Amino acid sequence: MSKSLAGIVAIVTGASQGIGEAIALTLSAHGAQVVIFSRKLEIAKKLIEGIQANGGQATAYSVDVCNEDQVQSAVSEVLAKSKRVDILINCVGGFNKFLPIEQVSSTEWDDIFNLNLKSAFLMARALIPSMKQHQFGRIINIGSIAGNGPNPYGTSYLPYGAAKAGLIGFTKHLAKELGPFGITVNSVSPGTTATERVIKVRDPESLNKMAEQTPLKRLVTPEDTAQAVLFLSSATSGGITGVNLNVNAGAVM
Ligand SMILES: NC(=O)c1ccc[n+]([C@@H]2O[C@H](COP(=O)([O-])OP(=O)(O)OC[C@H]3O[C@@H](n4cnc5c(N)ncnc54)[C@H](OP(=O)(O)O)[C@@H]3O)[C@@H](O)[C@H]2O)c1
Repeated sequence: MSKSLAGIVAIVTGASQGIGEAIALTLSAHGAQVVIFSRKLEIAKKLIEGIQANGGQATAYSVDVCNEDQVQSAVSEVLAKSKRVDILINCVGGFNKFLPIEQVSSTEWDDIFNLNLKSAFLMARALIPSMKQHQFGRIINIGSIAGNGPNPYGTSYLPYGAAKAGLIGFTKHLAKELGPFGITVNSVSPGTTATERVIKVRDPESLNKMAEQTPLKRLVTPEDTAQAVLFLSSATSGGITGVNLNVNAGAVM
């Protein structure tokens, strides 16, 4: 495998499982030194052992990425150790239930926005001074098919869709602001992916139905999304910024 990311430091939030895990594995397989930000270190440790067993480099920090102080202090620690962070993948996000609007409390609304949107703002804000100093950076936000509009083939969750639409808007505005500093900002929006979390919120029958209705007749995998992230992390994608790249088996075009 080509080590196109050798010498590169990448923070991946929410990398201990699901899509984030696939991204961490893919970037490390291409030579990046991966730094995982998630809350439960014991889960992240298993991934680190797997990466190291394959000759890769990874470390993990216990951080709640919705907490401003924790984000700031963990980023400072990483920068003190690694001197620079080249790539930031904001992958933390998701939802765990479907509710009609009348039953969405304002606390639930805030929690979903904090997890899916504010976390990306806090992480980017903490890292941008160092990226500006190095005149280089790649920021990739993991959006969702729901950020483009309601899922055409399955149930949608309003606060989540609104937050992911916000994340895609955040991506484009930040791309314009940071372009002059050599920093690209893009989003990758997966379609429904059968991760552990999603299997708990959507029944197998509805997942199969969704797969059948996509033009490619399948759901996307965490690895499909990881390959798109790898492309946007690489030197070859340096001319691309402000883009939202759909990885959804054609479910939305
Ligand atoms: N799966 C899908 O169908 C799908 C579709 C479109 C978009 N996406 C997006 O893809 C991303 C990943 O989804 P997924 O299904 O792979 O998620 P997941 O399996 O639920 O994984 C979530 C990860 O985030 C970490 N995490 C959660 N809250 C955190 C917090 N406050 N601070 C730090 N880490 C936190 C978790 O570890 P800890 O619990 O240890 O913190 C875990 O590593 C999300 O942004 C989601 O919206 C998913």
